[in-house]
Amino acid sequence: MTDARSAAWDIYSQSKPLRRRTNARGEVTWFNWSQYPDHGPGADVLKLKPGDRALDLGCGSGGNAAHLAALGMKSVGIDLSARQLDKARERWPDVDGMDLHQADALTYLGDTCPTFDAVYSVFGAAWFTDPVVLLPLVHARLKTGGVFAFSQRPPVEGCYGCQASYIPRGPDEDPAVVRRWDHEPDAWVLILHEHGFVDVSASVLAPPPGKRRTGTLLVRAVRRG
Ligand SMILES: C[S@@+](CC[C@H](N)C(=O)[O-])C[C@H]1O[C@@H](n2cnc3c(N)ncnc32)[C@H](O)[C@@H]1O
Repeated sequence: MTDARSAAWDIYSQSKPLRRRTNARGEVTWFNWSQYPDHGPGADVLKLKPGDRALDLGCGSGGNAAHLAALGMKSVGIDLSARQLDKARERWPDVDGMDLHQADALTYLGDTCPTFDAVYSVFGAAWFTDPVVLLPLVHARLKTGGVFAFSQRPPVEGCYGCQASYIPRGPDEDPAVVRRWDHEPDAWVLILHEHGFVDVSASVLAPPPGKRRTGTLLVRAVRRG
């Protein structure tokens, strides 16, 4: 699969190092919702138990999907970028219970039959896909009571809806452009309710102590019965 978006994410992949061997607690796998290391909540947001099925939309180099597999979940990661998936396979060669596929989130959700106990996306496809198109598909693929959760940067004040993200290609080339969808937490709550989700929460986690000012928007919702 090579289209403008997967090519853009292949470029992005070149600038990103593989996940560290261990985190600050010495763990070899872990879940990270935030853009900061060793920060924020973990996999418990998804309320999964061993044997449950989880889908990562835009899994990138696979650290979160590998963690769920290590906890005993059936962990599926999909990503547009072949390079990102190569990195995931290089970084996590021996993880049982993790399946990776190169696919667009909308295509995968539309075509695939299985249902999931949780669908999640960490700065991933849920940020880079129109929620009006994505949410009905996520809802259809979640089991009753299943959790949909995603994280991304909070919006810049006044910049809502579809926005442009620029991925640098180098000093002599124009950047690649991908679209993302930004909303304030209250707006996400309304949007998710409109699409049939319940128990919706959306908030901005504060950044870790230090100079950084940008927090992490974390949104969580449940598929009603
Ligand atoms: C900023 S990276 C985050 C990767 C990973 N979730 C992480 O936390 O490191 C965004 C990822 O989403 C993937 N992506 C973006 N749009 C997508 C889509 N429509 N379908 C599948 N993957 C997508 C990109 O290829 C990229 O790997």
